[in-house]
Amino acid sequence: MKVDVLLGLQWGDEGKGKIVDVLTPNYNIITRFQGGPNAGHTLEFNNIKHVLHTIPSGIFRENTINIIGNGVVIDPVIFKKEIFDLQKPEIDFTKIIYISKKAHLILPTHKILDAASEKAKGKSKIGSTLKGIGPTYMDKTGRNGLRIGDIISENFIEKYNTLKQKHLKLLKQYNFSFDITDTENEWFEAIDFIKKYKFIDSENFINKSLSNNKTILAEGAQGTLLDIDFGTYPFVTSSNTVCAGACTGLGIAPNKIGEVFGIFKAYCTRVGSGPFPTELFDENGKKLQDTGHEFGATTGRARRCGWLDLVALKYAVMINGVTQLYMMKTDVLDDFDTIKIATAYNINGKITDIFPYELNDNIKPVYTELKGWKTDLTKINSANEFPEELNNYIKFIEDNVGVPVKIVSVGPDRNQTINR
Ligand code: GDP
Ligand code: IMO
Ligand code: MG
Repeated sequence: MKVDVLLGLQWGDEGKGKIVDVLTPNYNIITRFQGGPNAGHTLEFNNIKHVLHTIPSGIFRENTINIIGNGVVIDPVIFKKEIFDLQKPEIDFTKIIYISKKAHLILPTHKILDAASEKAKGKSKIGSTLKGIGPTYMDKTGRNGLRIGDIISENFIEKYNTLKQKHLKLLKQYNFSFDITDTENEWFEAIDFIKKYKFIDSENFINKSLSNNKTILAEGAQGTLLDIDFGTYPFVTSSNTVCAGACTGLGIAPNKIGEVFGIFKAYCTRVGSGPFPTELFDENGKKLQDTGHEFGATTGRARRCGWLDLVALKYAVMINGVTQLYMMKTDVLDDFDTIKIATAYNINGKITDIFPYELNDNIKPVYTELKGWKTDLTKINSANEFPEELNNYIKFIEDNVGVPVKIVSVGPDRNQTINR
């Protein structure tokens, strides 16, 4: 068997949580491979909304194992809270959530460093979620990090203190006041909590599961345009959000990747700083934000909104080797007379459909305007009921990108999902 991968093709928040939940009945194992609690993945069913940050989105389906892979960074405090927020005391989650020993730990001082670094950047701040993601991955690549497997080692406290002291020294160079007494206590309580979970060599577990014909779905976090290598650097996150990240974040060989499900909103959003060529500052942008309830699931910040950008989408499809496209939040466009799609960029008078080295203010999107469908899609049950204008919109995207759109999402609920 192979591992199917589901990942975001834009700047995150495409609806990954919803679709992983929808697809989970087809899989034995769901596994996160990168990122950390900067992610906020929303699932909705039976009129209840759940937001997950570290726990894979397979958690609400029976008979599924959920693995937090080695590429993930974990804040034990947030993990503990997530478990309580699931509000299922009758379920023993220690039996269905396994954690890689090689996943790195977010320390209280990582979060302080994140905040201090952002403050020092002033106007050019990244707009980080302040969950300590950047500093934790810095310690991982700097070979200073603490891993989940260290929790059960004899000298865990010593290792913790060594890293904490390093952070305190670093913090001296910032003019930033902080007090970690309470958060440190809370962190150690959460370490005791997380200890009850199975710490595994997830690379062995996953490869053995494949040999035993188990089906596995890898759940991405963030999106391709936030990837540390291929995103809009430096306004990115600190992990490889792209398909290759599933190989390093789980310990699977590239030839073990199966289908790559690339998900995108029928328009674009971005939360945090950084370039966004199709961003709208007019009433259309406001309408997308209001209709789409575009506020961050992790930080509550308003998401910036704009039209769909096919230059960026094509680039993301190329980097990830996407085999199927899933279009999300299509219903948000229900009430537009016309809808624009960017097919190229005008960069200082030169037209190109190649995603450039750097996105900046000199880039003006070249738009095609399509007719809107002016239909309530939220009650639609099959693709046969799609209005002609929606079929045209989908065909326009498929023709440009060269990959079929296999799922069209028409509302936040599990059931508002149409296969094509
Ligand atoms: P993720 O980070 O990719 O999992 O996405 P988020 O959960 O951060 O943001 C997606 C938001 O859109 C959530 O509030 C979802 O409930 C919601 N959502 C997902 N699919 C649809 C859809 O097709 N239509 C509408 N209106 N909302 C959707
Ligand atoms: P999901 O998985 C949207 C953004 C932040 C910031 C930048 C760096 O829910 O799609 P970080 O905290 O990683 O240092 O922030 O990345 N960002 C996200 N934006 N969805 C996410 O996750 C995000 N995770 C990080 O807003 O601009
Ligand atoms: Mg999100």
